[in-house]
Amino acid sequence: SKGNYRHFMAKEIHEQPEVVGRTIAHYVDFASGTVVLPELPFSFKDLKRLSITACGTAYYAGLVAKYWFETLARLPVEIDVASEFRYREAPLDPGELAIVISQSGETADTLASLRYAKAQGQHILSVVNVPTSTIARDSAIVAPTLAGPEIGVASTKAFTCQLAVLLSLAIGAARARGHLDEAGEKRLVDALVGVPGLMTEALHGEAAVEGLAREVAKAKDVLYLGRGTSFPLALEGALKLKEISYIHAEGYAAGELKHGPIALIDEDLPVIVIAPCDAVFEKTVSNMQEVAARGGRILLITDRQGVAQSAMDTLGTLVMPDCDPVVAPLVYAVPVQLLAYHTAVFMGKDVDQPRNLAKSVTVE
Ligand code: M6R
Repeated sequence: SKGNYRHFMAKEIHEQPEVVGRTIAHYVDFASGTVVLPELPFSFKDLKRLSITACGTAYYAGLVAKYWFETLARLPVEIDVASEFRYREAPLDPGELAIVISQSGETADTLASLRYAKAQGQHILSVVNVPTSTIARDSAIVAPTLAGPEIGVASTKAFTCQLAVLLSLAIGAARARGHLDEAGEKRLVDALVGVPGLMTEALHGEAAVEGLAREVAKAKDVLYLGRGTSFPLALEGALKLKEISYIHAEGYAAGELKHGPIALIDEDLPVIVIAPCDAVFEKTVSNMQEVAARGGRILLITDRQGVAQSAMDTLGTLVMPDCDPVVAPLVYAVPVQLLAYHTAVFMGKDVDQPRNLAKSVTVE
C-alpha cells in the first residue's frame, strides 16, 4: 500500500533511510568498522579488471561504482549498457569478475550479458533486489539489495541500495588489494553508516525542492551537470525527469560543457548543477560561471561550504548536509529524485505509471 503517500514513488523515496540502512547493516560490521562481503570464490587481490553491466538506473549505479572501484581499490572497471555489451563480443579473461546490477533481476539484456560473461569463464556477481529472480538464480554470487518491493516505474530506493552494496564491495576490494588500512576502512564504513541519517536530513529539504520544481515544470529542456561521481548522478537526474515529467533532459559531465552543450545555454534552459564540495568542486564552479556568463539559469545542489565557495547567483540552491564526498551520491540522489517527482506531480503526470514504460523490461 501507499500508506500516507500520494504515490508509490513518494513512499519509496521516503523509505530510503530505512531500506538503505537495512542494506548497509547487511554488509557492515558496526563493532569493528569493517565491511562483511558475501563468500567469494576468488580474491579481489588477484583481479586484473572488473566488468559491470546493467541498464537504465542500474547502469548509472554501476557508473558511480566505477569511480569507487578505480579510486579506492585501484581496480580498472569496464562498464557498459547491457544492450551493447551483449552483442559486442568483448574479449573477457576467464577467472575475472563480471558484476551485473538489476532491481528486477529479469531484464533481458542484463541477463544475456550475464550469460555471455559466464560462457567466457568469468565469475558472476549480481547486485539484485529480487532474490528469486532469473538473474539471481543464474549468478554464483548474489549481493542482495534490501530495498523491498519497488512499485514505482521510476527506480529510486533500489538505486540508492545498489550504491550502498557497490560501495561496500569497493571498500572490501580496496582492503583485499592492500589500498586501505584498518583506520581507512573504518573511516569509510563510518561514512557509509552515517548515510541514512544524512538522507533523512536531505528529505527535510523537500519543501525547498518543491519550490524549484515549479521552475523546472516551465521548461521544455533541462540540462544536468556534474563531475566525478556527480556525473552519473546528472545522468540519473535527467533520466528520472524525462521518464515521469516528459520534459526533455540531458545529463552531461560538467567538463563536456564546452564541447557542445554550451551552445544550448539561454534563459529558457534550466541548468541543474550537482556539486558537493569535493576535490573537483572548483572545476564545476568554473563551468557554472560559463553558464551564468551566457545568461543561463542555475539550480545548484551543494553543501554549505559549496554555497560559500561558489558565491553564485542562482535561480535556486538546495543545501545538502555536510558529508564525506565518498558517500555524496547516496545523499544527493534524494533531492535529484524529489525534483523529478515534484515537477511531474506539479504538471499532473501519472508518476507511478508513466506512459510507454514497463517496470521490468523482459524483452529486448
Ligand atoms: O530491473 P532493472 O534494474 O534491471 O531495470 C533496469 C532499467 O530498466 C530501469 O532502471 C529503468 O531505467 C527505470 N525505469 C529507471 O527509473
